[in-house]
Amino acid sequence: MRKTLVVAIAGALAVGAMVGGATIALAQANVVKERQENRKQTAAAMRAIKGIIDAKGPTAGAVEQAAKLKTLEAAFIKMFPAGSDKDTKALPTVWSDWAGFQAANKNADAAFDKLAVAAGSGDQAALAAAFADTGKACGACHDKFRAKAN
Ligand code: HEC
Repeated sequence: MRKTLVVAIAGALAVGAMVGGATIALAQANVVKERQENRKQTAAAMRAIKGIIDAKGPTAGAVEQAAKLKTLEAAFIKMFPAGSDKDTKALPTVWSDWAGFQAANKNADAAFDKLAVAAGSGDQAALAAAFADTGKACGACHDKFRAKAN
């Protein structure tokens, strides 16, 4: 009787651990999708700004896009829990050099601030220059922390 109970409890714990493991794996797969979706929106905001630059008209519309970029970047850095390194283009360096990854994130955030200022100034050349610098901030992070292909 007692033995049966112990076996039953052990069995229940084992099932619990399996379900728990599967839940964690699922959560990690979701966070990878979420951060990739975040980057898609980031790329969309950059395309919108490029459109504004190419139109050679008023630059003010880019202020909102720069704000969007800042919000996305702040959310993005929180989407790298331990174990979310599977089925992703994020390189292991994200976790092994977390301080470097955070610095790249801050660097991008600073570029978005300059982008907002340039957009608000109405100066097309200033906006184009700030946009080019922003692109470099994206690339600097990708060079170190994103796989070229997987
Ligand atoms: C702090 C680092 C960092 C910065 C800054 C950064 N990225 Fe990325 N980006 C990544 C990482 C890491 C991935 C891979 C995410 C994954 O697969 O889990 C990625 C993925 C992407 C993707 C592919 C998304 C997909 O569909 O899988 C695009 C597009 C992208 N980034 C665009 C940009 C643009 C545009 C900027 C600048 C405005 C930018 N990124 C700034 C780190 C960064």
